[in-house]
Amino acid sequence: MAVERTLSIIKPDAVAKNVIGKIYSRFEKADLKIVAGKMLHLSQEKAEGFYAEHKERPFFGDLVKFMTSGPVVVSVLEGENAVALHRELMGATNPKEAAEGTIRADFAETIDENAVHGSDSPASAAREVAYFFEDSEICPRTR
Ligand code: TYD
Ligand code: MG
Repeated sequence: MAVERTLSIIKPDAVAKNVIGKIYSRFEKADLKIVAGKMLHLSQEKAEGFYAEHKERPFFGDLVKFMTSGPVVVSVLEGENAVALHRELMGATNPKEAAEGTIRADFAETIDENAVHGSDSPASAAREVAYFFEDSEICPRTR
């Protein structure tokens, strides 16, 4: 299996719950390496651009409002099969349907405030990583 990179966002609800470290710890336990990371408060424009694929969906307005409601932590995770592995750790989009022990099952209650984002394919990962990070901000492990 190939080493991949994927984009993680710890969303405003999880930052407000003060569980950034607990979520990072899930990544580390799964042997995903955090190779870039920053906290920022998304502007409406940045959030709309990030979720552009959903702009015709009925939940788009509320999603952008939520994503701009407080700070988020964006990170790049690196590891074997990182895209699918990260989605597995996150659990289903709707926390009520998320498998036991997943991040969304443990840290979220509703689909509209579901704690985390993860890229859904290697192609989205490449686009999403570049949306938030310059190459020079990504720090592959050398030891
Ligand atoms: P989506 O890309 O389908 O889910 P995921 O985050 O698991 O890749 O949707 C993006 C976000 O939009 C999702 O995390 C939460 C929000 N959303 C809703 O608020 N209501 C919905 O019915 C759906 C499908 C998504
Ligand atoms: Mg998605």
